[in-house]
Amino acid sequence: MRTEEESSAWIRGMFGRVAPRYDLLNRVLSLQIDRLWRWRTARILAPSIRPTSVVLDLACGTGDLLQSLEAAAPARYIGADFCHPMLIRTRLKSKAPLVEADGLSLPAADASFDLITIAFGFRNFVNYPHGLTEMLRVLKPGGQLAILEFTQPPSVLVRGFMHLWNGWVINPIGRLLSGQGDAYEYLPESVQRFPEGPKLAAMMTAAGFTQVSYRYFDLGIVALHLGRK
Ligand SMILES: C[S@@+](CC[C@H](N)C(=O)[O-])C[C@H]1O[C@@H](n2cnc3c(N)ncnc32)[C@H](O)[C@@H]1O
Repeated sequence: MRTEEESSAWIRGMFGRVAPRYDLLNRVLSLQIDRLWRWRTARILAPSIRPTSVVLDLACGTGDLLQSLEAAAPARYIGADFCHPMLIRTRLKSKAPLVEADGLSLPAADASFDLITIAFGFRNFVNYPHGLTEMLRVLKPGGQLAILEFTQPPSVLVRGFMHLWNGWVINPIGRLLSGQGDAYEYLPESVQRFPEGPKLAAMMTAAGFTQVSYRYFDLGIVALHLGRK
């Protein structure tokens, strides 16, 4: 059994190994739909973003959500990720300040951000309640958290389809293209383990977020959870 520190180090190393092929893999394994999910998220959030808003895109990876947000609404964006090879790739897409930081221990003062976004990153946190508490701490009062994440589709049929997709597409093609077998075993497993839509909403409320809501995209393959401080 790994400690949280050991799991976190393994996850950081795994994303570092996947980083050079991360964008290609996303496009192939999602049939490009991943771009649409980030674009829709940016479009939903844009009306609440002001040019003076300070927005943290946490677990920014190679910067795809950051790029969609920057295109949707001007603001003061900051990207953060605990994996250096990912941040190197973000730099190719965005001029925003970038910080190498763990979402469980952010190098930011209390009440720093108007909005925190996190796309396909929260699932990888080794301690969800701790991650939520930390994001709540650095949000300004009235600030918003937006979590875009894979989820368990509410429909049994769609769940069955996703199970087959993971086994027959994600796992073998992910292995082949990345050369990292363990990473593409971990990713579907991490989705299975991740709390379903209502459970994540309950967790956010328990952590102290208010006005918690969520909506599914594309038959519930992913969900966007929103909450306010
Ligand atoms: C699947 S990628 C998603 C990247 C990007 N947000 C996107 O939409 O493509 C997950 C990212 O989360 C980062 N990550 C995972 N756990 C983290 C943590 N505790 N703190 C900061 N970043 C983390 C990884 O390094 C990786 O870049």
